[in-house]
Amino acid sequence: MMRITATVVSVVLVVFGLGSGRPKGYRTVVIVHGIFDGPKQFRTLSSFITKAHPGTEVAVVDLYNDMSSLRPLWQQVRDFGRALTSIMTRSPDGVHLLCFSQGGLICRALLHTLPDHNVHTFISLSSPQAGQYGDTRYLRWLFPEVMKRSVFHVCYNRFGRKVSVCDYWNDPHHRERYVASSRFLALINAERDHALVQGWKENFLRIRKLVLIGGPDDDVITPWQSSHFGFYDGQEKIVEMRKQNYYMEDGFGLKTLDGRGGVELCQCSGVRHTSWHSNYSVFTSCIEPWLI
Ligand SMILES: *[C@@H]1O[C@H](CO)[C@@H](O)[C@H](O)[C@H]1NC(C)=O
Repeated sequence: MMRITATVVSVVLVVFGLGSGRPKGYRTVVIVHGIFDGPKQFRTLSSFITKAHPGTEVAVVDLYNDMSSLRPLWQQVRDFGRALTSIMTRSPDGVHLLCFSQGGLICRALLHTLPDHNVHTFISLSSPQAGQYGDTRYLRWLFPEVMKRSVFHVCYNRFGRKVSVCDYWNDPHHRERYVASSRFLALINAERDHALVQGWKENFLRIRKLVLIGGPDDDVITPWQSSHFGFYDGQEKIVEMRKQNYYMEDGFGLKTLDGRGGVELCQCSGVRHTSWHSNYSVFTSCIEPWLI
């Protein structure tokens, strides 16, 4: 009985879809991987998507994998931009962007800098949208001798321009140095060079929905609230998204998007950083509902 009903419903949807000019199927999902990984880490997630929504095209961009993910972010943005543009050109009904960890920052820069993009929903999967400040195992591997309190010496100078992690290193005890020397995060968060960022805001606001996924057991993104646009103040206390200056000043459109119901926060406990994309309950509760 259930099965017959489902079949009837999908037949009706297909007929309706053909008749009304609505997308004939689900929108293409473009996946951008995170630091130290690549397409092979996203096979499970791709299969979740195609099982839930048969016929969906899932494109995992095969660029800057593994060690190459440490290259400067603007360089990566340029090349991911070419790949995304060619996928969008053959997807006139629009695409969804699903971006993991560092990839979420690459994707946000793409949304700001590609003026004619047709991204419908941007899903940011445990991505340090407000920056990173923590002694995580990635950091200890990159800078074995350095504690988080000293990383700014490394990152906020010319060397920092060579390593992706420095592009979003946000030391709450050195705000001025961060704003003055960050060539990536402070720009896309409209914390400096506001004139440059004006057109970026309109581009960003072409999306209908921003889904921010994160949780307290992540273990890499620090503070984990950065995945929800929250961050430390000078005392390392969390200031949530809606109380952040970049939100209140609406420099890049976050407040406008939120005001029109376009921001969803999804929080999950019990998920380590490298498990986000293979956790089925994260998929069903925070991802699947938005892939429409
Ligand atoms: C999957 O997500 C659920 C819900 O957040 C969580 O309770 C569980 O621990 C997660 N499992 C793994 C292996 O990440």
